Amino acid sequence: MIYLVGGARPNFMKIAAISRAFEKYEIEYEIIHTGQHYDYNMDKTFFEEFKLKKPLAHLGVGSANHGKQTGMIMERFEELCMKMKPEMVFTVGDVNSTMAAALVASKLHIPIAHQEAGMRSFDKKMPEEINRIVTDHISDFLFPISPQDRRNLYNEGIAQDKIFLVGDPMIDNLLYYLEDTESPDIVRNYILVELHRPANVDNKENLKTILEALNELVPHCEIVFPLHPRTFKMINEFDLGKILFDVDYRREPMGYFEFIRYMKHAEAIITDSDGIQQETSVLNKPCISIRDTCNSQYTIDYGTNVLVDVDINKIVSAATYPIYNEPLKSNFPEQLKMLNDGNASERIAKIISERNK
Ligand code: UD1
Repeated sequence: MIYLVGGARPNFMKIAAISRAFEKYEIEYEIIHTGQHYDYNMDKTFFEEFKLKKPLAHLGVGSANHGKQTGMIMERFEELCMKMKPEMVFTVGDVNSTMAAALVASKLHIPIAHQEAGMRSFDKKMPEEINRIVTDHISDFLFPISPQDRRNLYNEGIAQDKIFLVGDPMIDNLLYYLEDTESPDIVRNYILVELHRPANVDNKENLKTILEALNELVPHCEIVFPLHPRTFKMINEFDLGKILFDVDYRREPMGYFEFIRYMKHAEAIITDSDGIQQETSVLNKPCISIRDTCNSQYTIDYGTNVLVDVDINKIVSAATYPIYNEPLKSNFPEQLKMLNDGNASERIAKIISERNK
């Protein structure tokens, strides 16, 4: 029995694609939900949309500081693993749930798989970077999404026979659901915005600058801005809602189907999410990332992603460029095209089922 562990919004897209592949390959698995995210729009909506199986266990940890949240997941997951003795713990992404589950499995000598292994920003101030490094160094099956991520693992001295370059299950899920997505009912051209990184939204000056930039974009296009709970909370705490008087902001995040529909038909996307940088490069949609580092350099080298600083003029000029000029198109080399072909999860399932024979 494999435990597929997740708990935060970006985990569920990957779990959806991997569980479909596990079912196809008749691999026995259960989903374990840590409860790191818990609002309907951050959690249950994905179980409903992707028809995920009900988690075998819900650890109910909720939000807390990093140490407490990681510790609570570990304590509760350890108890479950000691009782149920799974044969493998499969982790995805780079959130606290990922590292906590991997640490528990490693102490109990349960084999660990990590999807999205080797991704690096080289910025150890990001909690995700620590989660990625720790998880990779204790994993037995490492599944990077890009050649660059595989190189990072080689450079850190991880044994090559543990590393399998398979591609990106998040892209599998995107391609699986993308086809029937019709254009949203909006009269004007629009830019879709998704922001939630603490560096952008927990800092009053940065958040104010970004919101002012969004407001400046309004004469050029409509701004569709579904708010992540962290962003919503900080806009209220800093009393910045009044800056957004012309922006169509929504108090809640969108579900997956609605979000990919908006992403597919947008003029451009402004974000600080990692996953959206990868998705927009596959969709050939201009992506303006308000970040200083990028974990997936290939989205800049061959995709549609550009990094911009927290600066009104830079954000406005990067975001208006694709409205008035020929937008940047992706130019993936053959290997990257193959890795983003929608079958990464099946490659993972095949490797795991062959190893388990
Ligand atoms: C996690 C990940 C981050 C990922 C993000 C996506 C870690 C270290 N970080 O951040 O990589 O990009 O999720 O969302 O694991 N909140 C709610 N309802 C919820 C969840 C959160 O109101 O369902 C509130 C919390 O009170 C808190 C904030 O949102 O204020 C935390 O949000 P978020 O940034 O998503 O969570 P992290 O778990 O810190």
